[in-house]
Amino acid sequence: MSASGRSEAASVATAVEAHPLPESGVPVQPKAPPPTPDAPDKAPNEVFHPNQTDFDTVADAYDDSLPHHVMDHYLDKRAEFIRRHVAPGRVVDVGCGTGVLAARLSDDGYDVTGVDPFRGMLKYLKKRRPGIDAVHAFGQRLPFGDDSFDLAYCVAVMHHVADPEAVRETVLEMTRVTKPGGHILIWDHNPRNPYWPILMKRVPQDTGAERLIPEKEFLEALHAGGAKPIVVQPHSLIPDFAPRRLMPLAIRTESIVERAPLLNRLCAHNVILAVKTIQR
Ligand SMILES: C[S@@+](CC[C@H](N)C(=O)[O-])C[C@H]1O[C@@H](n2cnc3c(N)ncnc32)[C@H](O)[C@@H]1O
Repeated sequence: MSASGRSEAASVATAVEAHPLPESGVPVQPKAPPPTPDAPDKAPNEVFHPNQTDFDTVADAYDDSLPHHVMDHYLDKRAEFIRRHVAPGRVVDVGCGTGVLAARLSDDGYDVTGVDPFRGMLKYLKKRRPGIDAVHAFGQRLPFGDDSFDLAYCVAVMHHVADPEAVRETVLEMTRVTKPGGHILIWDHNPRNPYWPILMKRVPQDTGAERLIPEKEFLEALHAGGAKPIVVQPHSLIPDFAPRRLMPLAIRTESIVERAPLLNRLCAHNVILAVKTIQR
């Protein structure tokens, strides 16, 4: 980032700190124009589409939106992936939600900060692990200095950010706050998986405003931010309806499909791990 870009980011971070987000999750700016019916409370430069899921209203149901044995499987997979690739250090979970992965990584010795624009979700993180820093902010405007974290990650967030420019800004912000040599991890829904449109009609967190994002967009934004992808992998397959007693079989099948060229393009998630190569 250029010097002017840095100072711009710093002033945005300051603005976010000075004007914390209200319960609606939309930042308040001091001289914002009056709200309009199309974009309530929309702040200058903030990209937040009006029909995006209001996670404050979903927060109480979120942890029960999928069967717990399926959620636990994904939690194990994500924590294991991070432990395999990134040593314990300072990490930021962007769009941390109710904080299940943040809590797991904290237990594993990572120094975790959770960020989310919805206080209703952060409330559950605070309840789960009062010691974890819970920061109320958008991924597009992370209120941290450059080169602050060893790892910046997001799981199942980008398809809610959705707008192409906002997705790019979020990736750039995640890269900016990562130390040179540190990692950026994006774990999101794979648009090629045919089951998402069916499942997304059923779960409370999806309203139809989401956009499943081709991995190419993430790769371009990472490159623009000065990060080099080191793992680009299709991951996971187990659907919400997998019965608990069939999980061992489902896990073996998933592992075979993940390693099968071409077939693995249909996996549920795209996982991209990048290393920040540039010194700002
Ligand atoms: C499907 S939940 C995923 C939560 C958590 N990462 C997990 O894996 O359980 C999506 C999360 O993204 C958050 N989110 C939505 N828009 C965001 C944005 N612009 N920046 C950061 N987080 C956002 C939501 O508040 C919500 O907590």
